[in-house]
Amino acid sequence: MTELDPFTIKEVELLDYQKKVFKKIYNVITWLFSGEYSYLPFKGFLLYGPPGTGKSEIVKQVSKKVAEAYPNVKILFIDGADIASPKWGDAEKKLRDVFEISDYERRIIIFDDIESLMMSRGADIAKEWHYSINSVLFHALDFLDPSKCIVLSTTNRIDLVDDALKSRFYLIEIPEVPKEELYKLLDKTLVRIEIPEDVKMEIASKIRDKINTKKIIDLRGVLYEIALFVFNYVSEGEIHE
Ligand SMILES: Nc1ncnc2c1ncn2[C@@H]1O[C@H](COP(=O)(O)OP(=O)(O)OP(=O)(O)O)[C@@H](O)[C@H]1O
Ligand SMILES: [Mg+2]
Repeated sequence: MTELDPFTIKEVELLDYQKKVFKKIYNVITWLFSGEYSYLPFKGFLLYGPPGTGKSEIVKQVSKKVAEAYPNVKILFIDGADIASPKWGDAEKKLRDVFEISDYERRIIIFDDIESLMMSRGADIAKEWHYSINSVLFHALDFLDPSKCIVLSTTNRIDLVDDALKSRFYLIEIPEVPKEELYKLLDKTLVRIEIPEDVKMEIASKIRDKINTKKIIDLRGVLYEIALFVFNYVSEGEIHE
């Protein structure tokens, strides 16, 4: 578990499809945080869709914005690796602590890759340990007051997420990224890299081809390819993969 200082979350300009989701989540959280809605059986959002489509980035940017708007907001970031880590020790207790909130505080809890924490009860891999984590989580969620604390979760394996968990969240699908948005990410990333203009153009054209032929289908793929080309250029003076 990491407590994130909103000012250390790097501000990223979101792509158009991300902005829409950002706005929806931001508006709902600020509405909930300015009222008394403890009776709503709604505990947060679950963003799901293929890998590398910018789900975690949306969640981080929303948390940053909310925490900057409300000075008493704490952001806790938890991923499956945290819970499974021996360093976490008594995982159930730690998980309970995540939901312990004082009266004057508000909280955003980010469960990144929530499937690794919360296996579907039907899944073969769900072991006893998961049952016990699941029950702590369900209990905590049922007592969670959404006008004080909101869970923002992501997964690229919605098939592994328990139905009972899904029913407590507002589900938002982040589908495969449209090519136009991949081109935009390519352009806006290259602009900030200091290499000669003609080299940039050549790299851009090679990556555009890959986007066009669906060899690259997500944001991570675009950033990875840019890095690869640029590393090879700066280390060898040549453009190749
Ligand atoms: N608008 C953006 N501008 C620049 N970089 C971005 C943007 N959105 C996401 N990224 C970067 O793209 C990469 C993939 O995004 P992210 O990790 O949010 O995807 P994800 O959907 O959570 O993937 P996974 O399902 O694999 O966890 C990350 O390096 C992220 O920082
Ligand atoms: Mg992610």
